[in-house]
Amino acid sequence: MSKKSNRPENLSGTARRLLRMTWKYKIRLITACLCMMVSSAAVVRGTYYLKPMVNNYFVPLIGQTIKDASFVKALSAAVKGGDHLLSGAARILILMAGFYLVSSAASLIESQLMVSLGNQVMFDLRTELYDRVLSQPLDAVLSQPAGALISSFTNDMDSLNNMIRRSLPYLINGTVTCLTILATMIGLHVRLTLVMLACTCLMLPVMSWLAKRSMKHAAARQVCMMELTSKAREYTQSQELIRTLGMEDTARQQFSEKNARLFEHAFRADAFSHGIFCVTNGLSRIGYAVVLMAGSAMALSGSTDIGTVAVFMQYYNSFYKPLTDMTKQISNVLSALAGAERIFRVLDVEPEKDDGDIVLTGWEKPVSGGNTLSAESDGSGSPAWKTEDGMVPLRGELTLEELVFGYIPGKQVLRGISLTIQPGETVALLGTTGAGKTTVISLINRLYEPEGGSIRLDGIPVTRIRKESLRHAVTTVPQDTSLFTGTVAENLRYGKPDANQEELWKILRLVGADFFVEHLPRGLDTMLDRGGENLSQGERQLLSIARAAASDAPILILDEATSSIDTYTERKISQAFDRLMSGRTVLVIAHRLSTVQNADRIVILDGGKIAECGTPGELIRRKGYYYRLLHADEV
Ligand SMILES: Nc1ncnc2c1ncn2[C@@H]1O[C@H](COP(=O)(O)OP(=O)(O)O)[C@@H](O)[C@H]1O
Ligand SMILES: [Mg+2]
Repeated sequence: MSKKSNRPENLSGTARRLLRMTWKYKIRLITACLCMMVSSAAVVRGTYYLKPMVNNYFVPLIGQTIKDASFVKALSAAVKGGDHLLSGAARILILMAGFYLVSSAASLIESQLMVSLGNQVMFDLRTELYDRVLSQPLDAVLSQPAGALISSFTNDMDSLNNMIRRSLPYLINGTVTCLTILATMIGLHVRLTLVMLACTCLMLPVMSWLAKRSMKHAAARQVCMMELTSKAREYTQSQELIRTLGMEDTARQQFSEKNARLFEHAFRADAFSHGIFCVTNGLSRIGYAVVLMAGSAMALSGSTDIGTVAVFMQYYNSFYKPLTDMTKQISNVLSALAGAERIFRVLDVEPEKDDGDIVLTGWEKPVSGGNTLSAESDGSGSPAWKTEDGMVPLRGELTLEELVFGYIPGKQVLRGISLTIQPGETVALLGTTGAGKTTVISLINRLYEPEGGSIRLDGIPVTRIRKESLRHAVTTVPQDTSLFTGTVAENLRYGKPDANQEELWKILRLVGADFFVEHLPRGLDTMLDRGGENLSQGERQLLSIARAAASDAPILILDEATSSIDTYTERKISQAFDRLMSGRTVLVIAHRLSTVQNADRIVILDGGKIAECGTPGELIRRKGYYYRLLHADEV
């Protein structure tokens, strides 16, 4: 989906879009631009005073010697106005200094404005990017190369920020300065300007060749940076795995290969970009000599005065400085635009469609005490689905009808699954690894949409139910137990945001997790590092079950939720489980047959279809897959 190439494909489109984002802060932007103009104009104007200075005050002094007049004496005479000549010169110097001061002040204001603008736009972009990612379809988010998104949040944002804060002012300022100087130069002396432009034209091919090289490597540098970031992230997160598998050398080698590629491109990008600087600098010095010679010849022939030549040469330097600065910025700008394009590509993925119009009413996540988990919660508050034709009571009947689905086109994982789970029924889903059990659950949760068939809740197609309501009605304990970085209490509150400490302990007791939470250093307030890596896998699963229990949804799905819990603990919590499951519709995937034996019905998934379905007793009598599994377990 996202291209590896780092060249912006739609340069002007991306730039326009960025400008639109920046335009939101137009007052700051316009003021900054005005400041840049004032700053450039003030420098150009200040420099212009060199001409009267040379012509009126220096040229008359040529050949004269001021006897016994030290610099200090001369200056004090000038300040007292005693010496007409020097006081005039001092006035011009003060004017020049004044203009340079104005220029510096304008430049300071401009830089502050651009810094605040850059950070503001980055803030907006980060917020929007994160918001969008959360609302996009899962497959669109997961199809991004690993680490690409992180790289967008870090490297791409960084280079964009750099561009707005630094490169953009350079470019605007440089263009304004160059144009102002050029106009002033033409006003000063047309023929000298033509000589200078001719010299510049000779430099252009060399500059453009170097700029192209630099841009190419800057583009590759960005891609390498993205790859390196994602590798570094993966390796730092899997330190334990790397050490236990003894793959330090492989990790080191893979990392150093990527690092070397980054080095190569970063080095070349910088080398070429500095090359432009040096070459432009060198060539401009040769140009300087040529223009100076031409200017001197013209002054000697009387077609111009020395002051004009002096100020022209000063402008010559001021003209090349922004020009070389700008060439240095081009590769940065292109990298930033390529980054912006990647960010926009993510932003442009359509948000997940939620055309569900049916919502769950009378169902609030229960507050303080509520009916949570207590056996008395018989639903007399009668939550219901609010449909056009009136209210449909929430019973928790789950129907799958002829479900067909594949992650990759042409490779179907589910090939027609039909199953109805009655309200309050516990159904166990069994099948070999890769049979598609987790996939069924993902479809029920609408993380993916089926290619064929339908899923209904209480007779209502899930596509018509607003996703938020669906996720209130169905709670899943996923196969990969992931907890968030935060305290135990914060993690449990993802299930029930307003639960107080007492309720949290009640939930923990219910799933049998209280015994280990009590022994944690700070109990409920213990921090879970890096998604709970300071807990055992089983403890994480218990907390994950507790989080689901806290949400108190009528339909509970457990995906191999007890696979890492020991038999002893499982037995201990099995009663609690019975209570947790009572009155709820439960779909449970479990490896351990003891968990499955208590189910009302067992469904065996094989080859994308339901191979067997019935009560445990029936399946044993049928002597099929389940029977064989039971015997295998006994061996
Ligand atoms: N995100 C995915 N993209 C592509 N294929 C997937 C994805 N998730 C699962 N699969 C494939 O779908 C099949 C069923 O997977 P899954 O439902 O996770 O099996 P299990 O029964 O072990 O839970 C497997 O062959 C797996 O490789
Ligand atoms: Mg699975």
